[in-house]
Amino acid sequence: MSQVAVVTGAAGGIGSATVRQLHADGMTVVALDLDAEAAAAVSPDSYRLDVTDADQVADVMSRILERYGHVDVLVNNAGIAGSAAATTAHETPVADFDLVMAVNVRGPFLCARALLPAMMNAGSGHIITIASVAGIVAFPGRFAYTASKGAAIQLARSIAIDYGHLGIRSNSICPGMVETPMTQWRLDQPELRARVEAQIPVGRVATPAEIADAVSVLASGRLAYANGTALVIDGGWTSW
Ligand SMILES: NC(=O)c1ccc[n+]([C@@H]2O[C@H](COP(=O)([O-])OP(=O)(O)OC[C@H]3O[C@@H](n4cnc5c(N)ncnc54)[C@H](O)[C@@H]3O)[C@@H](O)[C@H]2O)c1
Repeated sequence: MSQVAVVTGAAGGIGSATVRQLHADGMTVVALDLDAEAAAAVSPDSYRLDVTDADQVADVMSRILERYGHVDVLVNNAGIAGSAAATTAHETPVADFDLVMAVNVRGPFLCARALLPAMMNAGSGHIITIASVAGIVAFPGRFAYTASKGAAIQLARSIAIDYGHLGIRSNSICPGMVETPMTQWRLDQPELRARVEAQIPVGRVATPAEIADAVSVLASGRLAYANGTALVIDGGWTSW
């Protein structure tokens, strides 16, 4: 029986690379994204899903469970950086903060909440949350994003300790800078790219495929003792 993986934010840079990699690994992959057309382009099985909408999440996850009977891996990947002019705490518009927290924290909560009962029945499952190194070290002027990714790492750890004894594991991946639509505006400016790359010991940003590789290894069941881990994949950026 093929393993079933569900990937949120599947139309984006890291999401689409993850869908491709998990397909290549032989998994059945359900692609979920706000952008239905783009999600359909990456997987034959896709749904439009806004991860912040509790009713939609419950509905889509139950349709997936009805169709396949089980979900082995949930990849909580959908995420937003907040406005390009993201700022310090006192300057952050409340609506920006709420939206970033809704996508980056409420989303993973709702998706995990919808799938955990089926994973508990199965006695197995793996929830992989794409957090960020911004959840470990603070980025200047990225208040909402930094706060949300710290919360995402702790959300993953909380699930790890509450469900580990039921055969369900939960880990997060903390990428450094990855070249995707989220970061393209910055990396397209040669000066900004040079400044970022100068801070990264390996001298370059990551490709989405390099983050998908980390998801693939975790999803494969290798690293089977990893639970509650925040796996940093950042070229050494935060090791200075
Ligand atoms: N690119 C980086 O440098 C980087 C670094 C660390 C962590 N991350 C994290 O990786 C994840 C993927 O980022 P990316 O760089 O591929 O970004 P991206 O912008 O390329 O893709 C994000 C995807 O999420 C979808 N999305 C946004 N809001 C959604 C919602 N409410 N419901 C469902 N889907 C929604 C978008 O439509 C898009 O397809 C995010 O959680 C991001 O925070 C990215």
